[in-house]
Amino acid sequence: MSSDREFVFTANDFSHVQQLIYDHAGISLSAQKTDLVYSRLAKRLRKLKIHRFDTYLKILDDVHHPEWEEFINALTTNLTSFFREAHHFKRLSQHLKAHFSRATTKDPVKIWCAASSTGEEPYSIAMTVATTYGKLTPPVKILATDLDTNVLEKARCGVYHIDNIDKLSALQKERFFLKGTGGQSGHVMVRPEIKSLITFNQLNLLADWPIKGTFDIIFCRNVMIYFDKPTQYQLLEKFSKYLNKGGLLIVGHSESFPEASHIFKIDKQTVYIRC
Ligand SMILES: C[S@@+](CC[C@H](N)C(=O)[O-])C[C@H]1O[C@@H](n2cnc3c(N)ncnc32)[C@H](O)[C@@H]1O
Repeated sequence: MSSDREFVFTANDFSHVQQLIYDHAGISLSAQKTDLVYSRLAKRLRKLKIHRFDTYLKILDDVHHPEWEEFINALTTNLTSFFREAHHFKRLSQHLKAHFSRATTKDPVKIWCAASSTGEEPYSIAMTVATTYGKLTPPVKILATDLDTNVLEKARCGVYHIDNIDKLSALQKERFFLKGTGGQSGHVMVRPEIKSLITFNQLNLLADWPIKGTFDIIFCRNVMIYFDKPTQYQLLEKFSKYLNKGGLLIVGHSESFPEASHIFKIDKQTVYIRC
């Protein structure tokens, strides 16, 4: 490994990081990620005034050490956007019209967004359901979870740079966002009615799920790609217990699970139906 680095980072250190993140979060880091891992964790070493990776990694021997949260947050990849893979939101709307037109606030449609990152995905779900039911108080409850506590904080705030919503229609901008003024100018905030449809919680897909009840629809997009096949399969089996029969499991554009066809039947374009 390159020796002109600011901190000592050996092949052993990289293997140690690989093992820790795999055991804790299921994330498989390939050797091509060495530079990325170095640059993300180097920020932590600088902050803690530590000069060697082995010294830093020793801290993580204590599984309850607060640095664990920072370590995890540094290594997750949080790329997302509003209405990413737009066909999924059209499908969501069609599914709601076909199967849940009689839903009520007492018996709402339950949707889980299982890797919600900075919030663009659950807010896109919330905007879609509000549009489908024609009101800001649709009979839908959304649970949005992620492992990374930093992204959850941003998601809960619901404040975005105005450029992040440039692909939305004028009507969507007007209906679902408030324009920032003064110190917040150049930013928008998701309207409180839309926010109130969503509960944000931290949840590690690889650990116990503190969830009661089942869902009608689960979005789990662009996260399983970071897991190896056995981990993906375990997760799919677990999802099948939390998704009602006939419910939708919506995954990312490059995710495909033919090995789980006895529990999830492929519908089309990365939408699976619980058998
Ligand atoms: C690339 S983003 C995808 C965001 C969004 N689902 C989308 O498709 O636009 C992946 C997200 O998965 C989260 N993640 C990674 N490992 C996780 C785990 N073990 N449990 C829960 N979330 C995890 C990351 O923190 C990150 O926010």
